[in-house]
Amino acid sequence: MFQTDLLKGRTILITGGGTGLGRSMALRFADLGANLFLVARREEPLKETADAIRVKGARAAYASADIRDFAAVENAIAAAEKEFGGVDTLVNNAAGNFIARTEKLSPNAFNAVVGIVLQGTFHCTLALARKWIAAKQPGNVLNIVTTYAAANCGSGFVVPSACAKAGVLAMTRSLAVEWARYRIRLNAIAPGPFPTEGAWSRLMPARELEERAKNHHPMKRFGRHDELANLAAYLLSSQAEYVNGECVVIDGGLWLCGAGEFNDFADLPDAMWATIEQSRTR
Ligand code: HXC
Repeated sequence: MFQTDLLKGRTILITGGGTGLGRSMALRFADLGANLFLVARREEPLKETADAIRVKGARAAYASADIRDFAAVENAIAAAEKEFGGVDTLVNNAAGNFIARTEKLSPNAFNAVVGIVLQGTFHCTLALARKWIAAKQPGNVLNIVTTYAAANCGSGFVVPSACAKAGVLAMTRSLAVEWARYRIRLNAIAPGPFPTEGAWSRLMPARELEERAKNHHPMKRFGRHDELANLAAYLLSSQAEYVNGECVVIDGGLWLCGAGEFNDFADLPDAMWATIEQSRTR
């Protein structure tokens, strides 16, 4: 879909880059010529993904860090600079989430998710943007949010995530304006259901839930990782230079399906449609 040198010369730091969608984006960006620096808590998946990138002939390195800790983020960025000379692009992909009834949550459960998603995104964005501004160099940030943030509707049963992702979207739009004068561009992607081990084990813990979600989807399928990775590549590329402060939804129409009052008529049997059509009044 793209020229193979679309991201040539770029150095991209991806949080949560060892697994799931972060891993898929990293591999795709490597195909398009970028150097990758992966940051996450667990070293084993980081190493495995970095090795898979190198097999493609691209450059990759990683640092293990908890992005809730600003000093750890600064150390990871220092390691990336040592390896590649600098970082020009950030993908805030790391997230924490689980299904729970909110009245059962402890304050620390809320903090854990908000710490990773909202504060972690701020830590990485702040640490890199300070460097870009001081060096008078352009920068590029892509934040992975959710459709319940993009639609501004929140969601029950994932309240810490809904609060945190809404904050990340507000940060994206606020900084897109504030830092445009520094040539720092910020955008977001709001993915719908894209199966990953991390998200699925927490959000679709039973097979019935997965089937229910698929049946409820207007396209009756989940997203494919390449579909999201290609959108991310476009938004990060110079082809999207004038796209700033935008949030692109990629969910096959799922959130709209919950928004329209009569959308669940898609499940009506033909016999019911016949009755409706016969009873039509002028
Ligand atoms: C209720 C829970 C819980 C659960 C943890 N806690 N899991 N409470 N229900 N299922 C509580 C703990 O009891 C504890 O509170 C507090 O949360 C912190 O838990 P820890 O395990 O000590 O924290 P930590 O090791 O930092 O783990 C953070 C985490 C974990 C968020 C809880 O799930 C994680 O590491 N997740 C990262 C990967 C991930 O979540 N991926 C999915 C992202 S999907 P107390 O009071 O006992 O100390 C996503 C997409 C959304 O974001 C859109 C989908 C369509």
